[in-house]
Amino acid sequence: MPSPTILLGIESSCDETAAAVLVDGVVRSNVIAGQDVHRLWGGVVPELASRAHQENIVPVVNEALRIAGVDKRDLSAVAVTQGPGLIGALLVGACFARSFAQALRIPLLAVDHMQAHVLAHFIRDADDRSVPEFPFLNLTVSGGHTLIVLVRGPLDMEVVGTTLDDAAGEAFDKGAKVLGLPYPGGPLIDQNARDGDPTRYKLPAPRIEGLDMSFSGVKTAFYNLVRTGQASDPAFVERELPHLCASLQQCIIDILLRKLQKAGRTLGVPRIAISGGVSANSGLREQVQQLAKREGWAVHIPPLAYCTDNGAMVAMAGQFLYQAKRFADLDMVPHPR
Ligand code: KG4
Ligand code: ZN
Repeated sequence: MPSPTILLGIESSCDETAAAVLVDGVVRSNVIAGQDVHRLWGGVVPELASRAHQENIVPVVNEALRIAGVDKRDLSAVAVTQGPGLIGALLVGACFARSFAQALRIPLLAVDHMQAHVLAHFIRDADDRSVPEFPFLNLTVSGGHTLIVLVRGPLDMEVVGTTLDDAAGEAFDKGAKVLGLPYPGGPLIDQNARDGDPTRYKLPAPRIEGLDMSFSGVKTAFYNLVRTGQASDPAFVERELPHLCASLQQCIIDILLRKLQKAGRTLGVPRIAISGGVSANSGLREQVQQLAKREGWAVHIPPLAYCTDNGAMVAMAGQFLYQAKRFADLDMVPHPR
């Protein structure tokens, strides 16, 4: 029997230090250390992120190996996020992975963070989930990116639509900031929206041709709505919080799903999927299922643990690179963009 492929995946592109071990694509551990320091500042502070990654990386990797019951000498290769992301944050993961690979004399795999979000669909664990068939359309929605990706194969992807300004996650986070909610605001908007009426406040729908999107108009309209409300009633946000959250969330979902629907129809691809941090949003998860049902399309939504940044998706992308023998040089440098 061939020996199993045992991969360590390391993610440090933004504000999560994460490591995971996959054995032949099956998760054995998936450890994430978040960074609370950014809450105080209302957003990720790059310098603080790098420092926290430096403190966390060794314990996080050790914990991932320990939980997996894997000795580092048994690893087949180490996969690490090469970019995009914050340069100082990426450097911590890249330097660690390079030294680790060199010391253990195993291959290094340089992973694109956005590809890893897409390949999160292929992670296997104790749950029995089907994986998407190729080609499929993936809406990749995170704090920094909003992409509609035509996925022809694990390493063959084409961006067919993107945001012209802010990312969807940014629209959630900035909207939350206007409401006085701490960073990251997306999950808090989601929570509050559950008790709100999404039709209470009408936010403008951008008119963009093709498959591209825009969120800056929504952001400005939401800011104006909140400030105007507060000017006439200081308790406006407190009283209207669930409705404001629900209205903002619905507007963002409408923009995303209108374009995903258009992509599926125009490209004739009857399989859609979502991934990235914003795909943890309960409203988006529900409505993408409804869209697929209406259109008669297959739909794939990753479990919550693989939506936001994690090491398992990096190891999974690494698994495909490993199979294709696409190894990185040991002097690999991060690509922030
Ligand atoms: O993919 P991710 O973890 O990191 C990046 O690569 O950016 O995405 C983080 C983004 C943040 O903007 C966060 O607010 C958003 O995902 N997010 C959510 C939810 N959970 C995370 N947005 C809306 N609803 C959620 N439940
Ligand atoms: Zn991400």
